[in-house]
Order: sequence, then C-alpha cells, then structure tokens
Amino acid sequence: MQLAGKTIVLTGGTDGIGRELALQLRAKDAHLILTGRTASRVAEMQSLGFEVITADLSQPEGVEAVLKGLGKRPIDILINNAGAGSDHDFREAQPDLADNDRCIFLNLNAPIHLITRLMAGLKSRPEAMIVNVTSGLAIAPRAGGPVYCATKAALRSYTQAIRAQLAGTSVHLLEALPPVVETKLTAGRGSRKMAPAECARQIVVGMEKNAQEANVGMVKLLQAVHSISPALARKIMIRF
Ligand SMILES: NC(=O)c1ccc[n+]([C@@H]2O[C@H](COP(=O)([O-])OP(=O)(O)OC[C@H]3O[C@@H](n4cnc5c(N)ncnc54)[C@H](OP(=O)(O)O)[C@@H]3O)[C@@H](O)[C@H]2O)c1
Repeated sequence: MQLAGKTIVLTGGTDGIGRELALQLRAKDAHLILTGRTASRVAEMQSLGFEVITADLSQPEGVEAVLKGLGKRPIDILINNAGAGSDHDFREAQPDLADNDRCIFLNLNAPIHLITRLMAGLKSRPEAMIVNVTSGLAIAPRAGGPVYCATKAALRSYTQAIRAQLAGTSVHLLEALPPVVETKLTAGRGSRKMAPAECARQIVVGMEKNAQEANVGMVKLLQAVHSISPALARKIMIRF
C-alpha cells in the first residue's frame, strides 16, 4: 500500500510501539489521528503536531469518544494498537475480575467495535487497511498472562475470519505480531527486548507490502517452530 496521503487512525499512538508507528508513518507523508489515554502523553504528541483524541478504550465510552473525535471524515487505515494486560497467578491470589474485564475490552472489544463502526467508511475508500496488533503470544500463551494471551489469540482469530470475508474488497487486513519489545508493557520482565522503533519499522514494511502478517523479529522463528510442532511451540512459550 502507498502510505503517502492516507488518513490513519492509530490507537495507543502516544507511547511505545504506537508512538514509533506514528513518527514513522508521518515520515511517509500519511496523516495521523492518534488516540491516547494519559493526558500528558497525549499533550506531548499534540505538541509534536499530531492530531489527537483522548479516550480510555477499556470501556465503551472510550470508543464513542474516538468516533465522535473522528466525525464523518474519510479514514483509509485503522490501526488497533492500544493494548495492555496484567499478570495473575491462581496459585498466589484470585485475579481482579474488573481488571480482567478492562483488559478484554481494551484488547478485543475496542478493536471489534472500531472495526465494525468504521467498516462502511473503510469499504468506500479505494484502498483501505485494518492493522490489528496482536502478539507472538497469540500463537502460544505464557502462563503468567492468561487473560492478555487469550485476548490476543481471540483478536488473531477474528482478524483471520474477517480477512476471508473481505477478500476481493478494497479493505486489506494485516495482523502485526510483535515479539518482546522494550516498552512500559514489559517493564521489569523479559530480556533481549527489541527496540520499539525497530518493531514499528517492521510493521510499516508489512503495511507497504500488503502482507497478511507482520511477524516481527523472533516471532518469525516461533511461527516456524509452530508450523512444525504446535506442541513444542506451546512448551517453549508457556514458561516465558
Ligand atoms: N511490548 C511488547 O513486548 C509487546 C509484545 C507483543 C504485543 N504488544 C502489543 O503492542 C501494542 C502496543 O504495546 P506497547 O508495548 O507499545 O505498550 P505501551 O508502551 O504501554 O503503549 C500502549 C499504548 O496504548 C495506550 N493504552 C493503554 N491502555 C489504554 C487504555 N485503557 N485506553 C486507551 N489507550 C490505552 C497507551 O496509552 P497510555 O500511555 O496513556 O497508557 C499507549 O499509548 C499492544 O497492543 C500490545 O499488546 C506489545
């Protein structure tokens, strides 16, 4: 896809991988509309000249705030990048169900709601794209983050199904699967983390190539192992 001139809605564009995507996509002459939650980070991106919408996407009101901010203008690309999740272990404590529900809404419901509400507009564009940022953990989960991993696997499944529905239309579906990236999401855990700028670069390459999947960094290796032995892939990832 030619990115120059495209209007892109990017959720979670104020930090981590999303912030880098915003900078790199703007360098390709796309027009970015960023959503973010924390006021100071939203203000910082606004001060860099980005159009911004403040919304907490872990609840339906956040989706409405994004749609209100967009108004009726034509959107070419929707990037569902905002995501979060906290670990829990039943051997130590009960999970906080309200926290789980916010994670499920943010990582799964919000992308589905935004896709559904923006679909008619996307289909009317000559060339459109939906990018869903899942994770290597969508392929095989780690034990520490059962709800987070479940949301990513569900978004992967949803992406594959609607890709089949939209074949032959102007709307292309790209799933981006990052490895462990150095952001606040992974603070205090993981090693040999990829820089967010490199992760974003590989996702942008996937967008330009109209790829179905951007398997970033080590996720390529995980996909290869999984294609030979799903059981081995699960065994490796569960202890991660
Ligand atoms: N980092 C990794 O290792 C990794 C690996 C695989 C997949 N991913 C996925 O990549 C995506 C980006 O993650 P990241 O590592 O870049 O995380 P990050 O640095 O924490 O940034 C996440 C972005 O999403 C926004 N966000 C978080 N909770 C939100 C909420 N409730 N409502 C609205 N916006 C919210 C954040 O805004 P605030 O700054 O205001 O919170 C921020 O702009 C996520 O979908 C994540 O699951 C990350």
